[in-house]
Amino acid sequence: MSSRSFETPSATSESTGSSRREILRAAGAVTALGATASLAGASGQDDATKILRVGLVGCGGRGGGAVINALSADPNTKLVAMGDAFSDRLESKLQEFEGRMTDNDGNPTKFAGRIDVPAENRIVGLDCHEKVVDLCDVVLFASTPHFRPAQVVYAAKAGKHMFVEKPVAVDGPGLRKIWQAMNDVKGKGIAVVTGLCYRYQNAKRATFQKIREGAIGDIKAIECSYDTGALWHRGQKPEWTEMETQLRNWLYYTWASGDHVAEQAIHNLDKMIWAMDDQPPVSVKAQGGRIVRTEPKYGNVFDHFNAVFDFGSGVKAFFSCRQWNGADRDVSDHVYGTKGIAHTQTHRIEGETKWRWRTPEGMVDDMYQNEHDAMFASIRAGKPIHDGDVMCRATLLALMVRMSAYSGKVISWNQALESKEDLSPKKYEFGPNPVPPVAQPGVTPFV
Ligand SMILES: NC(=O)c1ccc[n+]([C@@H]2O[C@H](COP(=O)([O-])OP(=O)(O)OC[C@H]3O[C@@H](n4cnc5c(N)ncnc54)[C@H](O)[C@@H]3O)[C@@H](O)[C@H]2O)c1
Repeated sequence: MSSRSFETPSATSESTGSSRREILRAAGAVTALGATASLAGASGQDDATKILRVGLVGCGGRGGGAVINALSADPNTKLVAMGDAFSDRLESKLQEFEGRMTDNDGNPTKFAGRIDVPAENRIVGLDCHEKVVDLCDVVLFASTPHFRPAQVVYAAKAGKHMFVEKPVAVDGPGLRKIWQAMNDVKGKGIAVVTGLCYRYQNAKRATFQKIREGAIGDIKAIECSYDTGALWHRGQKPEWTEMETQLRNWLYYTWASGDHVAEQAIHNLDKMIWAMDDQPPVSVKAQGGRIVRTEPKYGNVFDHFNAVFDFGSGVKAFFSCRQWNGADRDVSDHVYGTKGIAHTQTHRIEGETKWRWRTPEGMVDDMYQNEHDAMFASIRAGKPIHDGDVMCRATLLALMVRMSAYSGKVISWNQALESKEDLSPKKYEFGPNPVPPVAQPGVTPFV
């Protein structure tokens, strides 16, 4: 296990040498999100009242939610800039935000006066992040995943706080860039909060804490599934170029989304490695393909994956994800130990220890809100959260599964980390962008 690197090669690992006791201590320090949030006021009036200018990159469904979460987290925040590849996406989202400044009776809400995005701060283009970052103190990155490494590297160099949606890269070169940038800003006073939102759900934190405390004994196996239905497709218009069609329907193009194992099922993979105290696996053997989603409009992604991770010492993790309408759905995780089982999605433990999470009275355990509450509290307290490793590790797990399933090869953690496959389009412009063939295990090489 010690030969597996889980930071970019030039960096020292935070957790390689962590003992179980150290991890317990660290986990205890972050378990109660409410306690973190209360630090906000303790950092001094000046810090707490300074207006933090928020910018959004990627004005879609999640970006919209993230803005509302950010403005709800801290009263002294203001949305001042927005960026998207398409102006219609940006303008409709802005209209939606502006609509929230008053209630149904026309009375001002808590957002009144806090959505202030003049025309010159509405940036359209594939490199819109640069101007948005320049205009803000805190940037929310929720665009199509392919662009995340360039966006985050730019923000890191500019020293801006950031909320970063998952996945953070779609290929090895992108992941190495972003991981390096994350290592570069460690300890430099910059908040980096991941969109791997389960990490911020109190119920999950309590459940994983129980596992760490030994409630199920030693972990022998993990089972996790993101078996669900199809997501959206935004259609095709004759006037759209290939690039526009792909960006508007980015889920279905591996170069843009990383495939659904990275775009969606990454949540399970993150919970899997969380259960393993964030220690990476040795390797993965995965398979997948497309059975029900075969039309050309679905690009070149698979519609299902299955994988077995080898964590060494006989510990295996079994993972599946699929997007099949009409099939049974199962989004869950189960950790099997020598003394019991933890059902981490439903927050229950059975076996020698019987336990279940009960939400304390008055607590609204909204993980999406919690992550923003924690981020702004950490900024105000001058103790910014740094989730760089968490988000990069989970992304690498997802890339490992895809690389193994596409090639039909067993892929080690280090092989995936060093992968040379660069999925970038030839040109970042609205024109032709031929779709590569769907991967064929045994034929498609691992690069
Ligand atoms: N944490 C979660 O539970 C969760 C839930 C949903 C989505 N997400 C993540 O959030 C991200 C966005 O997902 P979504 O559902 O909002 O998708 P979406 O398509 O609704 O929004 C993405 C937006 O990014 C824009 N975009 C494309 N290229 C861009 C570029 N270069 N710069 C700026 N904007 C660009 C698109 O035009 C689109 O408006 C994805 O990474 C997704 O995986 C996370």
